[in-house]
Amino acid sequence: MKFETPAGTNPIDRLKIVGKAINRVDGPMKITGTAPYAYERHDVAANQAYGYILGSAIAKGRIARIDSADAKAAHGVLAIVTTLDMPRLTLGRMNTASLFGGPDVQHYHQAIAVVVAETFEQARAAAQLLRVDYDRADGKFDLAAEAGSAPLVGGGGPTAPKENKVGDFAGAFAAAPVQLDATYRTPDESHAMMEPFATIAAWKGEMLTLWTSNQMIAWNKADVARTLGLKPENVRVDSPFIGGGFGGKLYTRADAILAALAAKAAGRPVRLAMQRPLMMNNATHRPGTIQRIRMGATKDGKIIAIAHESTSGNLPGGKPENAIQQTQILYAGANRLTSMRLAPLDLPEGNAMRAPGEASGLMALEIAMDEMAEKLGLDPVEFRIQNDTQVDPANPQRPFSKRQLVECLRRGSDLFGWRRRDARPGAMREGRWLIGMGMAAGIRNNLVAKSAARVRLSDRGIVTVETDMTDIGTGSYTIIAQTAAETMGVSIDKVVVKLGDSDFPISAGSGGQWGANSSTAGVYAACLNLREAVAQKLGLDATAANFEDGKVHDGHRSIRLGDAAKGGELVVEGVMEYGDLARQFQQSTFAGHFVEVAVDGLTGETRIRRMLAVCAAGRILNPKTARSQVIGAMTMGVGGALTEHLAVDPRFGLFVNHDLANYEVPVHADIPHQEVVFLDEVDDKSSPMKAKGVGELGLCGVAAAIANAVYNATGVRVRDYPMTLDKHL
Ligand code: MOS
Repeated sequence: MKFETPAGTNPIDRLKIVGKAINRVDGPMKITGTAPYAYERHDVAANQAYGYILGSAIAKGRIARIDSADAKAAHGVLAIVTTLDMPRLTLGRMNTASLFGGPDVQHYHQAIAVVVAETFEQARAAAQLLRVDYDRADGKFDLAAEAGSAPLVGGGGPTAPKENKVGDFAGAFAAAPVQLDATYRTPDESHAMMEPFATIAAWKGEMLTLWTSNQMIAWNKADVARTLGLKPENVRVDSPFIGGGFGGKLYTRADAILAALAAKAAGRPVRLAMQRPLMMNNATHRPGTIQRIRMGATKDGKIIAIAHESTSGNLPGGKPENAIQQTQILYAGANRLTSMRLAPLDLPEGNAMRAPGEASGLMALEIAMDEMAEKLGLDPVEFRIQNDTQVDPANPQRPFSKRQLVECLRRGSDLFGWRRRDARPGAMREGRWLIGMGMAAGIRNNLVAKSAARVRLSDRGIVTVETDMTDIGTGSYTIIAQTAAETMGVSIDKVVVKLGDSDFPISAGSGGQWGANSSTAGVYAACLNLREAVAQKLGLDATAANFEDGKVHDGHRSIRLGDAAKGGELVVEGVMEYGDLARQFQQSTFAGHFVEVAVDGLTGETRIRRMLAVCAAGRILNPKTARSQVIGAMTMGVGGALTEHLAVDPRFGLFVNHDLANYEVPVHADIPHQEVVFLDEVDDKSSPMKAKGVGELGLCGVAAAIANAVYNATGVRVRDYPMTLDKHL
């Protein structure tokens, strides 16, 4: 946990390169189509065959028989592996359902066979010839039907209390002069990333290499080894570019396992992408929730009691959607209750999707805050400001490392022109359009994770960074290059960044919005070690050495950085760890979201007109890539509010709308001008980078701000997402 140089300085604070809106260093590769995505890697292994996955046509039951005779005889077929051919695979640590199901089927479209052929079309055609006999069993697919009998589950492991209580909620709520008791529903949602799961697998003896698309390289390597019964050192995973993940690619998925099994069976490298119609049911999804919120306040708007109880469903062994966590810390209030119930369902596995927990929880909580403000006759911005807290309400000894929620709300309110809003629903009109303005607070925790990197210095003064960090389209390459350039005192074009290879030191990976801050901190740690190695090599005083303009100075001499590598490349590693820093301080990021909508008074069609997010998220490492993260997240919030919804067929237990035509995400025409403002913030408790994450924060609260704007426009309070037009007519 070394945040500073031997001289007691932090080179990042110079902010010559870090903190600047530098263009993506991988931009030209993206634009010219030369960034190597998994399925396009023709060059990595010769003689690649094609794999095609067969998904189960039932959600629950048993496979009685698979007849592959016709498929095997089909033109171009090299091998067929069915789940009945082999013993059940070990479950990965990060998986709830088997990635190769059967004979017992756990969910619809669980993979049950893979066909390998010379071409993709041959593999696909042969897969249609597989005859599968199922013994179908009844399953549970309807959250609402199961919610009543769903047991309480603690969020903090088996010994943690099942309900989280502070003070006396029931007593305080009963006595509260103003009360709200409302129930909100969020649907199952899909990551719906552009690039499907895809892997090229090749064996060399016992050694398996996977060129794949995955957010967490070390988790993936460990789970591939575990699932296939291999030694971890015999598995290499490489994922330098990822076409979107949103949490769906945190874990090993069926593409990796089936490509490996198929390559073994065919004796050739196999290229396999999960076909789009399998993506929604084969992969994980964000579980739907039913959330009851009760709130009691004094007449002048002080929250004295708050309860948030959430019910979600999952396969046996799965976790609940932690929709209550933000309610434990977002607002003050002496009497509190939060709890989760988990209904066993036979739908596909529910798991993390961008801002798991807060994204769903704020969809409910921030409508409740709007409803309560209205009951109190208070402006919703002021109501939130009145109930701000600077400490963890359950543990007043534990402050926030930085909490600028009030500033986010005030700045946002000014910039957005919130004063022009008429609080009376339906009061603002433009012809047949009803105009509404809504807002919500956003919070997402800032997690810090151990992260390591290797840095190399060449005699030409080139600094090469190697870490298994991933770039899921977020800009990791760029901020890591900025970090190394700043720390080593070189220009950014002297830095080469290599990511996503399990042969590199283990990083924090991309997840939970911890990636940017944590992975750059690891690179910073490695660069501090490189600085010491350079000083030693050049015989300079490490406590006085200054690295600038590609040179090292110690007050007496000025030497080219590359000279330290004249006798051979300098290679050092470094790792950043945090001890109990995260326990001492509550680390969170905050936002104020403001939205203007227009709702067609005749048809209910809802158009988003303006969006503003004011974010407080520590030091912003690159305002351009950070802004892109936030506008992407705001766009996702529009989908969450208005269109996104995995529709469950309760008879057969599948998500019916399992492609991008029927699972509607926003397109450009749905999105207006979006403005993003970052407050000046430096959080020295988060890492030597003093940064936090923004990638998930940008989503948190957006859907509720839209819901509140729709209410302001129409006077119809929709508590059931997505707010399709039928719900507010
Ligand atoms: Mo995020 S849901 O941890 O990729």
